[in-house]
Amino acid sequence: MNQQLKTDRILHGCDYNPDQWLDYPDILEEDIRLMRKAHVNSVALGIFSWSRLEPRDGEYHFSWLREIMDRLWAAGIHTELATPSGARPAWLDAAYPEAMRVSKNGQRDRHGRRHNHCMTSTQYRHKVSELDRRLAEEFGSHPGLLLWHISNEFGGECYCPLCAEKFREWLRQRYHNDIDQLNAKWWTSFWSHHYDSFDQIDPPFAHGEDSIQGHLLDWRRFTSWNTVDFMRTEIEAIRAGGSQAPVTTNFMSLYNGIDYHQMSRELNVISWDSYPAWHGEESVFQTACNTAFEHAMMRGCRPDRPFLLMESTPSLPNWHQRNKLKRPGIHRLASLQATACGSDGVQYFQWRKSRGAEEQFHGAVVDHAGADNRVFREVTEVGELLEKLSTVCGSLVRSQAAMVFDWDNRWALDHTSGLIQDNKGYVDCCQEYYSAFTRNGVELDVISVEDDFSRYRLLVLPMLFLTKPGFEEKLEKFIQDGGHVVGTFLLGYVDESTLCRLGGFPGGRLKELFGVQAEEIDTLYPDDRNEVAFEGGIEGTCSVRDYCELLNILDENTQVLGRYRQDFYAGRPVITRKRIGSGCAWYAAARLDRAGVEKLLYAVWQDAGMEPKVLPENVEYHCRQKGNVRYHFYLNWGDTAAKIQPPANTTDLLSGEVCSGGTALPRHAVRVLQEIISPH
Ligand code: GLA
Ligand code: ZN
Repeated sequence: MNQQLKTDRILHGCDYNPDQWLDYPDILEEDIRLMRKAHVNSVALGIFSWSRLEPRDGEYHFSWLREIMDRLWAAGIHTELATPSGARPAWLDAAYPEAMRVSKNGQRDRHGRRHNHCMTSTQYRHKVSELDRRLAEEFGSHPGLLLWHISNEFGGECYCPLCAEKFREWLRQRYHNDIDQLNAKWWTSFWSHHYDSFDQIDPPFAHGEDSIQGHLLDWRRFTSWNTVDFMRTEIEAIRAGGSQAPVTTNFMSLYNGIDYHQMSRELNVISWDSYPAWHGEESVFQTACNTAFEHAMMRGCRPDRPFLLMESTPSLPNWHQRNKLKRPGIHRLASLQATACGSDGVQYFQWRKSRGAEEQFHGAVVDHAGADNRVFREVTEVGELLEKLSTVCGSLVRSQAAMVFDWDNRWALDHTSGLIQDNKGYVDCCQEYYSAFTRNGVELDVISVEDDFSRYRLLVLPMLFLTKPGFEEKLEKFIQDGGHVVGTFLLGYVDESTLCRLGGFPGGRLKELFGVQAEEIDTLYPDDRNEVAFEGGIEGTCSVRDYCELLNILDENTQVLGRYRQDFYAGRPVITRKRIGSGCAWYAAARLDRAGVEKLLYAVWQDAGMEPKVLPENVEYHCRQKGNVRYHFYLNWGDTAAKIQPPANTTDLLSGEVCSGGTALPRHAVRVLQEIISPH
């Protein structure tokens, strides 16, 4: 588990799919020349190469791949070698039809597309392992091999008989073979849904049982676990083939189908694919804040090491509803933002545009007309800048604050009927809090509920509806040790099986910790607003929407810092604070607007002794650190120049200038200022 990337350069590269061009030797040669020109130093190779690697069952052709890897390495370019399990050749589905998924309506897919194999099929697992092991034997000791790229963007679910039986087996283990335990946890006494045996349980087919939250949640957990289990067999095959090189798989930003925290535990390097919709309805800076949130999620999956931006587009994607070009300068900003947030690489999909098929018009580094164009020049510029940042490699963002994000909680909210039906707003709420941190230059990791909290001074728990055994004790200890916690509406309503906590919300010890109880919760219509008047040292008002809890104060030590101004609950508390020793438990009982979140957080930061930065509008700030060196990143997403106040005596790694204090940050500019701090 401790293998890390062995690189002393920030990686700059791309998905390289030369298997499309094996009949065009000139193009393959040109590729290497252009890669050098664009300062590419690493490529993800062979992601969808199965039919070139094993064109017929049991017949392996690796020489073409070796030739390409050799050529790349001769040019100083590393390979992140992929296992090709993400897409299957036609012969494979014909020979092993169980590899094809069954969808929610019970129908088996026909051959086609990608990312759609059954995760359970032993025949498929066997074929994949066999190929992976051989790849590891063949290429494991290649000097250019940097990293294994396991499959591609794992996801989806399968309802085939094999998956259904494996689900039952998983349930038998979870409920100790005792069907009554399951009945109790799934509350099957409602609507006479009692089960007599595990054999009666199906996955939640579209035309079957889908009314039991415990069932739905366990299915999501099972699917996620089974996907991780599939990935584990791939990693085992690589190790069985004798390669100890680090492994990664590319995450799909905040994809809802896999618990990435669990998946992370099997990986040496966290990597992800980022395709924001730039220049849409929200401001560019807001898109940047949301992207920073996703970076923070990746960073939080393994806070002890840098992550990797595996894919991004150098210009436009092709699968958004409308595909807008990144305006000049945005590519540079987005790439350096990844670095600022803790990525040791910037990579693209894909190197050269495809001539045909699904992704024909997706942006690529090299277009059919060649490389004399804006996109290639911008990519080259990023390559040059990243070379100047080699020294940043291995440094880490050290946050004092963390936000807890939990997939079980997300799934429990998805399946709860009530509140807002179509979208409970969990991710949005997390992003709203995260954005306030970003606007104020306060670093925030996004972490799992299972992680160690003691590394942080402040914890934010947006909409943490489902809590697991042990959580309350851990939180209590965190607060007693001087930690500050911000909880919000919906905190601690259900247990890990989505059963309501008895005795009122927030459940168990949480009521006592926060000193409040939510007697009722109101869900507002989209255009409804209520207003909050702050008090107790926080000034002004803000508006609230969507959710309003009606709080009771349980404890004389709970101070009210804001109350509703309207409706029949006018005067009831919205914002509260309870001090416990030097720690503090804050509560926000409604969905605050941007100003409200910011007012609340200002009070929290002040209380916790954390200093927000005074940043000009549209300027993002991050800091990475290694030993006694700090790297301060300032990114100006705005259309006008800004003035920043970095620490004195820094060196701009990009321009070489020495910087002695306040300095200008032109429109769309980036500064990376190196500061040597004295040891104390
Ligand atoms: C994903 C995939 C790539 C490609 C890109 C297109 O990230 O991993 O294979 O399809 O999307 O944006
Ligand atoms: Zn299946």
